Amino acid sequence: MFNQEFYFKQVVILITFIVVVNSSVGQGRVSQRLGDYASHEVTSNQVLIKTSFGLAKISALQEDVIHVIIVKDEFRSKANYAVIQDATIPFKSINENTNELILETERLTVKVNKAPLTLTYLNKKGNVLSEDDEMGIRWIGNQVTNYKKLVSDEKFVGLGEKTGPLNRRGQAYENWNNDDYAYEVDDDPIYASVPFYIGIHSKLTYGIFLNNTFKTVFNFGASNDRFSSFGAEDGELDYYFFGGSSVRDIVKDYTWLTGRMELPPIWSLGFQQSRWSYFPDKEVLTLARTFREKEIPADVIYLDIHYMDQYKIFTWDNKRFSDPKGTIKQLNDMGFHVAVIVDPGIKTEDGYQVYEDGVEKKVFATYPDGSNYAARVWPGRCFFPDFTLDKSRKWWGNKFNTLTDVGVEGFWNDMNEPASWGNRTPDLVEFGMEGNRGTHLEAHNVYGMQMSRATFEGVNQLRNNKRSFILTRAAFSGSQRYSAVWTGDNVASDDHMLLSARMVASMGLSGISFAGPDVGGFVGDRTPELFARWLSQGAFTPFFRNHSSHNTRDHEPWAYGEQIEGISRKYLNTRYQLLPYVYASFYESSISGIPVARSLVMDYTFDNKVYTRAYHNQYLFGPNLLIAPVESDQKFAKVYLPEGKWTHYWTNKVFEGNQELIVDAPLDQLPIFVREGAIIPMQSTIQHANQKPSDKLMIHVYDGSQKTSFEYYEDDGNTFDYQDGAFYKRAISYDPEGQLTLGKVEGNYVSKFLSAEIVFHSNGKFDIIATIPFDKSEQKVSLPRSKK
Ligand code: GLC
Repeated sequence: MFNQEFYFKQVVILITFIVVVNSSVGQGRVSQRLGDYASHEVTSNQVLIKTSFGLAKISALQEDVIHVIIVKDEFRSKANYAVIQDATIPFKSINENTNELILETERLTVKVNKAPLTLTYLNKKGNVLSEDDEMGIRWIGNQVTNYKKLVSDEKFVGLGEKTGPLNRRGQAYENWNNDDYAYEVDDDPIYASVPFYIGIHSKLTYGIFLNNTFKTVFNFGASNDRFSSFGAEDGELDYYFFGGSSVRDIVKDYTWLTGRMELPPIWSLGFQQSRWSYFPDKEVLTLARTFREKEIPADVIYLDIHYMDQYKIFTWDNKRFSDPKGTIKQLNDMGFHVAVIVDPGIKTEDGYQVYEDGVEKKVFATYPDGSNYAARVWPGRCFFPDFTLDKSRKWWGNKFNTLTDVGVEGFWNDMNEPASWGNRTPDLVEFGMEGNRGTHLEAHNVYGMQMSRATFEGVNQLRNNKRSFILTRAAFSGSQRYSAVWTGDNVASDDHMLLSARMVASMGLSGISFAGPDVGGFVGDRTPELFARWLSQGAFTPFFRNHSSHNTRDHEPWAYGEQIEGISRKYLNTRYQLLPYVYASFYESSISGIPVARSLVMDYTFDNKVYTRAYHNQYLFGPNLLIAPVESDQKFAKVYLPEGKWTHYWTNKVFEGNQELIVDAPLDQLPIFVREGAIIPMQSTIQHANQKPSDKLMIHVYDGSQKTSFEYYEDDGNTFDYQDGAFYKRAISYDPEGQLTLGKVEGNYVSKFLSAEIVFHSNGKFDIIATIPFDKSEQKVSLPRSKK
């Protein structure tokens, strides 16, 4: 007989069981899977999938860029800081069978496996680029992670400013911007967060960018042999998949998505001298004069925190700098530009206008009860502008007139993790997040980026068609749109020097092209040898600044005796002679995202040697110069030259590539090799970037077996007029059959050079082949044919 009571009891037990199981998931006892496919619909190019537990939204932004968002319950509106593209394109086809949904673009196939719901990305040849592990997407509490199958030969590069090896396989990393004074060469995290990496396996490449500002975690097979994973402590699993068929394409696509740097002022590509701190004004002027007297080129002098009145932002210490405008004018007359530090902490002091105005305008981050959040930093007790609000950014940006009015042109954004004594901003502090109010947990990683954005937007308005230089310590994906990034408080050691080469190359792979370390090391005293070596390496680093902490010895290029002064001059002269090449490389980066300092992974992706620890510090500076960093106590260097022919920059000796070699590396000779077919425009020695060189551009051409080309680019270097056509751009092409062509000139700027001298390097020798006009006319020059 049908027993109603029994049946009812069974139902109650079942419901209780479901509730208990679900609530234990809610409490994060075991992980919760996304579940199986339930249904899907397609609206405005987006495929919206419901699963047994959550929702997934998949769309295409380009033929090889896919956007995926996965949530438990609903898609919420949120502030978007990294991404500047949102237009989608339709999938070419969407097909369904019992087990899968298949979405296709012209270049990629996304297979959505239904049970469990996992994603596989394939290229048009049917090769699997990346495939979810069966664990797929899982939550533990609010933490969400995507697990991917680890391929046996898979390598991982990128993640921006991270310590550790070039190949990140076997390592795990966290993104949580961290004021890590005197960090170790394997510390993680440090100051910047770029949740983007490139995977390389089976002669294939792909990229993943996790667009989530909470603390994010990447595991590339650390403490497991099954998966790589990316995930976040909270928020959505919102990621972009890049299916470009080369590292170059992926970097171009990633920087298309998150933006590229603006062309910086040319003087910021020169040498920059800093310390904590140069003061008073007389000392700064003496410093500048000494550079000029000693004919050691330099462009920028920094004022660290002592220029301010009690570290109060937007003030001057009247005793140390009684006439900032006059002092800066004198520096400008010597060809120097001044950069000053700005910290976000605003001293809470009655009568301090910036503080009182900020309180009145309600621009600060707050506690949940609405009171302003305070912590201690250099000036003592401070409030912190909420840079995640447009009104606070504008407020901050307008305050820069106290600096721009007296002639400051460089703005060094520091302590913007945000840092404070205790290094632990409370989680519950609230930020506006563009109207989607959130806690510090969500705002932390973009705080520094939004501070440099506010600075960038403010000074650009105030400085009326003049390019400014903005530098930041804390950064996030997309920071490259607003500022250069330096790698924080490193240490004066050989290990740090080598790490900086890798780190800058890694930042370049991750969209941040204008990057560099404190040359010489910030913490501790450098030995003379380390100073010389690091300055030599620094000459081939995009951002080239010599900076040191307050209790360290003098570190100007002349502070270590005559020999070191001579080496410093040699490398600084080289940097300035190479400026036409460096500026063109910055231009290329500003339009394509291809970095100035290029990891060898970019051009030699499938050459396993470039990933080995013996050679992973090597990189290309611009398209053609291979730099092999070497410790300060070594007289020889072990170098790996990838395929092709290479010419030793200092001796002109030619080496076959695809080989490891030992080369001489005395202290005055950093190993540098020039790629075959290289075209390198150079100029006469100058003392600062805006000084006029001789009328002759020297175009060095290196014999090669392939056709090559270099895009020459010039403009006034200081204003935005180039955006209205005031530039001079032309392709210079090399043909091994024996011809160099200077192509048609684009733009209406008149080059500062009147003629070009063609210097041809071949077989260990070099000759001036021709001197030709460098105007708007096309030019063809015959060269000796290459001996293949
Ligand atoms: C921080 C910066 C450092 C600066 C110092 C004083 O440590 O990272 O570069 O010199 O503060 O402002």
